[in-house]
Amino acid sequence: MRRAKISIIGAGNVGSTCAHWAAAKELGDIVLLDIPDRAGVAKGKALDLACCGPIEGFDSRITGTSDYAHTAGSDVVVVTAGIPRKPGMSRDDLIATNVKIVKEVAEQVAQHSPNAVMIVVSNPLDAMVYTAWKASKFPTNRILGQAGCLDVARFRAFIAMEIGCSVEDIQALLLGGHGDDMVPLVRLTSVHGIPLEMLMTAEKIEACVQRAKVGGGEIVQLMGTSAYFAPASGTIQMVESIIKDKKRILPCAAYCEDDFGVSPGQKGGGYFVGVPCVLGSNGMERIVDIKFNPAEKKLFDESVSHVKDLVGIVRKTFPELA
Ligand code: NAI
Ligand code: 2OP
Repeated sequence: MRRAKISIIGAGNVGSTCAHWAAAKELGDIVLLDIPDRAGVAKGKALDLACCGPIEGFDSRITGTSDYAHTAGSDVVVVTAGIPRKPGMSRDDLIATNVKIVKEVAEQVAQHSPNAVMIVVSNPLDAMVYTAWKASKFPTNRILGQAGCLDVARFRAFIAMEIGCSVEDIQALLLGGHGDDMVPLVRLTSVHGIPLEMLMTAEKIEACVQRAKVGGGEIVQLMGTSAYFAPASGTIQMVESIIKDKKRILPCAAYCEDDFGVSPGQKGGGYFVGVPCVLGSNGMERIVDIKFNPAEKKLFDESVSHVKDLVGIVRKTFPELA
């Protein structure tokens, strides 16, 4: 049986941790690519990881490179190339640098792996998925952004810490853009089916909501750079569902026009925002529509409006991406 091929662009913190989780789960062969100046880092990390195989019991082949030829024919390509934020910066401050990087990377991916599903992780996430879509010209089912898997995992972790129960028993949904105005949906959050409101006070719930929204910033303040364990874990959750055709319903940045009222009637003029998606071998196979109440709709629309502003900056800077 042919093994799946997963290429990860950017061998920094998030990229190499994605390689780690993908190898540990033996999802396929892995290529870790970085710029020529950092080819040694990509090769060294790949070799180091490959030497875990005998201990952890995986047979994935792991290659480090700066040559896109080695990524050819990938089933899934994860894009983590770009600068992360430092303390005091917002994700949006990265746009000028990362739009150029993601554009160049997406063009290379389209050339070497024209049938891949591409998952973008670079920030500001929703604008970078848009950039990669325009630059690659991929159909919208084969281009996704990772944010919701991470953000919902943080929300679940904070709730479990508060209640003192297993994280596995928390089901939650979080939609919108990957900014501090993301939308955790308390109404649809439960603990083994028990509505959250029955187990926590409104104040404690609100504290978890706020902590999830700024969870990325909390870690940047502590470490001096952005998080990578949970971001990579969330990314590989998506990769696994695609490679194993599991049809998991996961919150992902996916292309929306009429969906959730993001861009009604605007054929080809939609945006990528976090919505629940079915992920399988065709990538984003279906958006699962849900009915918001008026308060949720207001928060979601505010978050989407922020995404639209960021995409406006991309379009202005690079008219060819408009
Ligand atoms: P990092 O600095 O550790 O790694 C980035 C890597 O990208 C570096 O090795 C760099 O050499 C490489 N790179 C730069 N230009 C490239 C190019 N043209 N081609 C190939 N590789 C290139 O940064 P880290 O922490 O891995 O973060 C990467 C990105 O992911 C950042 O933009 C960060 O904000 C974003 N991020 C997104 C998250 C999400 O949930 N969507 C969560 C965490 C980080
Ligand atoms: C995070 O949420 C910075 O997007 C990154 O940790």
